[in-house]
Amino acid sequence: MRVQTLGQFIIEKQTDFPYAKGELSRLLRDIGIAAKIVNREVNKAGLVEILGETGEVNVQGEQVKKLDVFANEQFISALKAGGEVCAIASEECEDIIPIDTQVSKNAKYVVAIDPLDGSSNIDVNVSVGTIFSIYRRVSLSGPGTLEDFMQRGTEQIAAGYVIYGSSCMLVYTTGRGVNGFTLDPSIGEFCLSNPDMKTPQTGNIYSLNEGNYLHFPDGVKKYIKYCQEEDKATDRPYSSRYIGSGVADIHRNLLKGGVYIYPTTTKSPKGKLRLLYECNPLAFIVEQAGGKATDGKTRIMEKNIKELHQRTPLFIGSTQMVDKAMEFMQKHEVSTL
Ligand code: AHG
Ligand code: MN
Ligand code: MN
Repeated sequence: MRVQTLGQFIIEKQTDFPYAKGELSRLLRDIGIAAKIVNREVNKAGLVEILGETGEVNVQGEQVKKLDVFANEQFISALKAGGEVCAIASEECEDIIPIDTQVSKNAKYVVAIDPLDGSSNIDVNVSVGTIFSIYRRVSLSGPGTLEDFMQRGTEQIAAGYVIYGSSCMLVYTTGRGVNGFTLDPSIGEFCLSNPDMKTPQTGNIYSLNEGNYLHFPDGVKKYIKYCQEEDKATDRPYSSRYIGSGVADIHRNLLKGGVYIYPTTTKSPKGKLRLLYECNPLAFIVEQAGGKATDGKTRIMEKNIKELHQRTPLFIGSTQMVDKAMEFMQKHEVSTL
């Protein structure tokens, strides 16, 4: 079988966008190159003094690990040098990064990124990831503005994630299905390994941090009990699987069928995950693969965004399982009032 590299695939797909002049293709290619560099560092993280915490605290109030900083810098410099974006929003930066260089003068796009997702897993050799989302700018010219990022998820032009796992994979969508590429380290290329990915409509995996059980809404508590009940017809009890790296958990569920939930908790009354650079891109991919993503009530991609680092609860995965969890949320809503 002929091996198709990410670069070849992107060029071939460019004809899907007759109005585009190749900027989006170049932008995706730049992200792929930065991902390879981050993967190289993740791979040798155990060997060099890059491991561990820098001691700084990021804008979310979390400890920043050195690889977070490295990945953040890597993606920002690749995107700046590529010249296709006029602003970047990153989990690691409080404000947007407007880009005002000669090469980016006519840039049409902005990128929102979680450079290293699952950072609590860096020190223990467990998969981490990168999540990205691309929008067309709404501002007219010059460096991008905050307004360029205050668009609903439905306006995304492309989104993807990279998983630095037992192998490194890049999965992305431009709204015409989802394709997955695995890095072949011997040739240093992402090769098409999972064309036109589709997620099962149902499955038997549920993924959430059950340590927060006492602080979950009643609907989620009841849904967990439902997952644990015996029922041959629906293949219950389901298996509980939670890595704590959203990308890895959602990637596994996408392939096998399952539901990932990060609900509101008393500690995080608005949820923990961020709408712009975590939930919207993951929702776009999962929907394109035939799955579903909501906040328990509303479709993630239709939520209004008012703040760069806005948080939201997330119910994502196989359509039937997300629907079932939402049914429990609705049924028990009254009892939480
Ligand atoms: P990040 O490392 O970018 O801050 O994201 C971590 C996220 C997500 O990837 C993961 O599923 C979740 O936080 C884990 O949170 P808990 O440790 O609260 O379960
Ligand atoms: Mn994250
Ligand atoms: Mn992160």
